[in-house]
Amino acid sequence: MKVEIIQGDITKSHVDAIVNAANTTLMGGGGVDGAIHQAAGAKLDLACAKLQGCASGKAKTTLGYLLPAKWIIHTPGPIWQDGMHHEPEILKNSYLNSLKEAEKHQCQTVDFPSISTGVYHFPLKQAAQIALSTIINFKQQAHYIKRVRIVAFDIITKEVYQEVLEDLLQ
Ligand code: APR
Repeated sequence: MKVEIIQGDITKSHVDAIVNAANTTLMGGGGVDGAIHQAAGAKLDLACAKLQGCASGKAKTTLGYLLPAKWIIHTPGPIWQDGMHHEPEILKNSYLNSLKEAEKHQCQTVDFPSISTGVYHFPLKQAAQIALSTIINFKQQAHYIKRVRIVAFDIITKEVYQEVLEDLLQ
């Protein structure tokens, strides 16, 4: 299972599944959540309404609708408070449960945004360490997944994830 960091717009990813940094209502919002809902179209809103929300750290899957991606895996990451409210554990669970959903849907390629490091203010380097160690540790149990990418929207995020990945793979 390859792990890569790229810079781009995740709504353009031609992959089996993209992961959405959602909120617990699953009814869309700003940031990557807003971009995904806008690009996927109105049918996504209807599908999400039926899911009746999702707890932080859990993950639920819908079709990709108008997106090039086949599936969208929605996961609400933690809202950063002070690091003393299980935020690291919830973030780890968001990545782990999203990977499990991708396996359940027999996905070979999965793209993640940098979950919780925008509006939810999770410190970037710590989030990258949690994200990438969770993804790397999942390798043993990955049967379908052949490639996981982090799609960074900006160069700072890309460079931090790249640096953390190189440290972890040393
Ligand atoms: N493609 C890839 N990454 C993107 C895109 C995009 N099109 N748009 C934004 N991002 C990046 C942000 O720059 C940030 O690095 O996604 C990362 C996560 O930021 P947010 O989208 O703010 O997500 P998060 O911090 O998890 O906060 C989630 O924000 O949009 C609301 O409904 C959402 O309430 C939820 C909260």
